[in-house]
Amino acid sequence: MRSHLCGQVSEQLTGQTVTLCGWVARRRDLGGLIFIGLRDHAGILQVVVEPDQAEVFEQAEKLRNEYCVRIEGQVRMRPESQWNQDMATGKVEVLASAVHILNPSAPIPLLMNEDDGEEIRLKYRYLDLRKDRMQHNLRLRARLTGAIRRYLESRDFLDLETPILTRATPEGARDYLVPSRVHAGQFYALPQSPQIFKQLLMMAGMDRYYQIARCFRDEDLRADRQPEFTQLDIELAFVEEADIHQLVEGMIRHVFQDVLDVELADPFPRMTWHEAMRRYGSDKPDLRIDLELVDVGEAVKHVEFKVFSGPANDAKGRVAALRVPGGAELSRKQIDELTEHAAKYGAKGLAWIKVNDTGQGLEGLQSPIAKFLDGDAARAILNSTQAESGDLLLFGAGPEQQVNEFMGAVRLKVGRERGLVNPGWKPLWVVDFPMFEFDVEDNRYYALHHPFTAPQSSDADALRADPGSALSRGYDLVLNGAEIGGGSIRIHNQAMQQTVFDLLGISSDEAQARFGFLLEALRYGCPPHGGMAFGIDRIAALMAGEDSIREVIAFPKTTAAACPLTEAPSSVDAEQLRDLHVRVVE
Ligand code: AMO
Ligand code: AMP
Repeated sequence: MRSHLCGQVSEQLTGQTVTLCGWVARRRDLGGLIFIGLRDHAGILQVVVEPDQAEVFEQAEKLRNEYCVRIEGQVRMRPESQWNQDMATGKVEVLASAVHILNPSAPIPLLMNEDDGEEIRLKYRYLDLRKDRMQHNLRLRARLTGAIRRYLESRDFLDLETPILTRATPEGARDYLVPSRVHAGQFYALPQSPQIFKQLLMMAGMDRYYQIARCFRDEDLRADRQPEFTQLDIELAFVEEADIHQLVEGMIRHVFQDVLDVELADPFPRMTWHEAMRRYGSDKPDLRIDLELVDVGEAVKHVEFKVFSGPANDAKGRVAALRVPGGAELSRKQIDELTEHAAKYGAKGLAWIKVNDTGQGLEGLQSPIAKFLDGDAARAILNSTQAESGDLLLFGAGPEQQVNEFMGAVRLKVGRERGLVNPGWKPLWVVDFPMFEFDVEDNRYYALHHPFTAPQSSDADALRADPGSALSRGYDLVLNGAEIGGGSIRIHNQAMQQTVFDLLGISSDEAQARFGFLLEALRYGCPPHGGMAFGIDRIAALMAGEDSIREVIAFPKTTAAACPLTEAPSSVDAEQLRDLHVRVVE
């Protein structure tokens, strides 16, 4: 139907006749002349219709936005004064010799610009996706998955599928359940990841597996979380951490080169989980921001201010300071906003000191807590934070985990608001995660990765004796402050798997009921294995420069887990429910 794409028409085609198909992005009627912005996926091109071609002109007069048309015409240069530098095709235009309306469009409910709200964009997603930005994002995503596939297939990875109707997989979120018609009262669970199946594939001798797999998790949604999302899932047999890291690092570097022409660090730097928490208050530090947390517990152990001295003298407490260069200029209101932000992450307060003059010790500090400090404390704080005159110091004090969380959040906010986010790409391996995290409220341990992650020590008795300080063989890959992937070396020994289930409070009956098939499979010569999964949506969003993964998913859900387009989820009729042996309780 067409000879060229709109976005491909350039000076080289001057004088040629072209046939183009696309949509009317805009139409300007200048009395004598009609200008049409004709858009296809390759770009927008200006088409001119002159009145001396009566029949063509008549057709063109009927055009409205988003009409689908085929246009024939001759390419010509625009007068230099009319060159549009913002358009790739801005030096040329097509003088129409025929205009065919392939399909008219009802007046569209979108403005087709950045002012369209998300609800309406998702309701008319097929129109929203016609926009340049969305065309770019989805095409970039396809190039990303294409590059990944080529890389892995050239390294002998098998693309294998795993079931969607399955049993619960423990990744820590709530399951989506599907009632069985055939088995009254029983349910399939949609996989939170292919984790158990990929391990079974290693036991099955498949050696190297990958899958671009959909995962389903019923959890609170955010900009970087969807109820169904896509993982690049990878598993290898007969490997250790270094094998996996080398391989996937190479892959990530390759796809960034291929898709964005960006060269990432080689090798990626690595950091222990512990160091990440101390220095950045986060297990996914954004290394583009140079700000760091500094321990000042020693400096304030002796002060009367209990908010500080309490945690400073408690082994599980922390007093951390964040130096904001030049931050003394912040207004009271700006500091209050930071305090409110910290409170969202559990802070009881956010003490601050404006360093007016480092030369004057305590006298040079301006702060509501200055009266609680003394000269020694002031000097020690200035020393350990290396503060300079004109800086602001922010303090978090309390239980270590809580302080890390809110000071990590304050660090990001200050960094972004003060323009301290350096451009570029900062990948980071985070390693040496604790095996377990103790939840005080539930009075039990949770796995930091998942229950199949191997501990660093293969001594099960030592693990039982002190689970809280055991490290795991798990690792995460972080990019610009986003966790883009995580994985581990797995447990390949039945006794160790049983031990970990025990420590997680999964009784042997429950373990048998939920994972009996896995425990059984571990008995038949399971090879050492490990792997990793990447969040494709997150990588695509980072590459596209988008804050939300919804911008790189063709048909995402809203933050209320609904689809405005299809109006899913929806009620179903009584007969369907009866077939499924399900009764809805009002
Ligand atoms: P994990 O749960 O860390 O590991 O998931 C791997 C990666 O998937 C992405 N991700 C998400 N993306 C969008 N929306 C979500 N709700 C969401 N949840 C996770 C993140 C994350 O790093 N089976 C293990 C992997 C393994 O051990 O091999 C797993 O699923 O980028
Ligand atoms: P208060 O004694 O509660 O009035 O607090 C005095 C100062 O300490 C205020 O600036 C509070 O914001 C700050 N503050 C209170 N609790 C904490 C905390 N846990 N960490 C850091 N600063 C705090």
